[in-house]
Amino acid sequence: MSETARMILDGQEYEFPVITGSENEKAIDISKLRGSTGYITMDPGFKNTGSTQSGITYLDGENGVLRYRGYAIEDLAEKASFIEVAYLLIYGDLPNKEQLEYFSDSVTRHTIVHENMKRFFDAFPLGAHPMGMLSSMVASLSTFYPESQNPNRDITDIDLTIHRLIAKLPTLAAQAYKHNVGLPTMYPKNNLSYVGNFMHMMWGVPAEDYEIDPIVESALNKLFILHADHEQNCSTSTVRVVGSSQANLYSSVSAGVSALWGPLHGGANQAVIEMLEAIRAEGSPLQSWIDRAKDKTDSFRLMGFGHRVYKNFDPRARIIKKAADEVLGQLGVNDPVLEIAKQLEEVALNDEYFVQRGLYPNVDFYSGIIYRALGIPTDMFTVMFALGRLPGWIGQWKEMTENREPIGRPRQVYVGATNRAFTGLDAR
Ligand code: SDX
Repeated sequence: MSETARMILDGQEYEFPVITGSENEKAIDISKLRGSTGYITMDPGFKNTGSTQSGITYLDGENGVLRYRGYAIEDLAEKASFIEVAYLLIYGDLPNKEQLEYFSDSVTRHTIVHENMKRFFDAFPLGAHPMGMLSSMVASLSTFYPESQNPNRDITDIDLTIHRLIAKLPTLAAQAYKHNVGLPTMYPKNNLSYVGNFMHMMWGVPAEDYEIDPIVESALNKLFILHADHEQNCSTSTVRVVGSSQANLYSSVSAGVSALWGPLHGGANQAVIEMLEAIRAEGSPLQSWIDRAKDKTDSFRLMGFGHRVYKNFDPRARIIKKAADEVLGQLGVNDPVLEIAKQLEEVALNDEYFVQRGLYPNVDFYSGIIYRALGIPTDMFTVMFALGRLPGWIGQWKEMTENREPIGRPRQVYVGATNRAFTGLDAR
């Protein structure tokens, strides 16, 4: 029995179909609302508005559930490789041996970037924010591969573009890092894993063979998996909207990198460490920071806390918090901000303001502590988020493209000046 929603407007009753998802989520399909009633809906920030029906990632915010194509994040983070999870998100299933070998080999063969791109990096000022460099470099990939701009996008072009982007993002990320530390860029090595290759390009130097630390490789593999997709978040929605105009994948993902940069989104992992450092430097009681976060007249927010969907706990934060203890222990790193983070979490979660609003640590609260222990500079933290999120962006763009979804173009309610006659300069 198909459900319907009834609405009475100006004394007339209207019915709209109800959509039920595979996890029994419900939505009212208002795609014919304006045509039949003349009304639109209003929902700033789209807090109650679905933009698509997607088969990629399922979140249950009340129960802290996150699954990629039906697989629990806890299983994938513990048992899968990031390149396997990338394949899963993009193509819909975990790869068998043959598929994994083909995908992994193809990605490996496309890791190098055009030599001309080195000149782009030389033009950036020293200390340029790596996210600004990354979004520019990703967009410029489209200039080297004009076939990627074919709006009809035959499947071979799409697959080649996908493999190129998955392959080249770590190379570009490492080059952004090397630009700012003034060290020579390292070329990719085909005998390394996806994560190992990134480590080699980030920390390797020409003078010696870089030795992959398995603890670091495992930690990055887990962190990339935990960041790989998250349904219709700000940056993914950006990728889908830009892609809906039939812009190429490089341009769409470049826009996603820019959206992720914001401190309310992926930029929060950098903001969390800066906040913890400020708390440590000032030395004032944690409660005073909690009080500031609750004070509406104070712009301070507890960065790394709160989430649009998770209202009990972010399952990724739980996994990362545990990993932070393990990785710092294994590396013998004693970072005082980890203790501050744990104490801050304890104080906040005993404060009615946070509990009542369902504000818990999110994925960004502990991730920066691990990145720091791995020797990654703070301004590279959101780049690390982008490296993890890339397969999610690609899978969502591919789904939107294959479903031939309409161009994203929201409506508005106009509240500006009504019609008025033009007046000459002397009369104003
Ligand atoms: C990510 O969407 C995703 O899936 C994102 C992400 C992904 O994987 O893609 O999970 C990654 O972006 C995680 C979020 C990282 N951002 C931060 O940690 C920044 C700090 N958090 C917030 O600014 C906020 O919680 C958001 C942006 C995450 C969510 O904001 P919402 O859903 O728009 O909620 P809101 O701003 O309307 O807040 C609701 C209430 C408000 O108070 P009241 O008006 O009810 O009195 O909670 C308060 C807010 O003032 N509040 C906070 C707070 N977050 C919300 N108060 C203090 N500190 C905070 N961090």
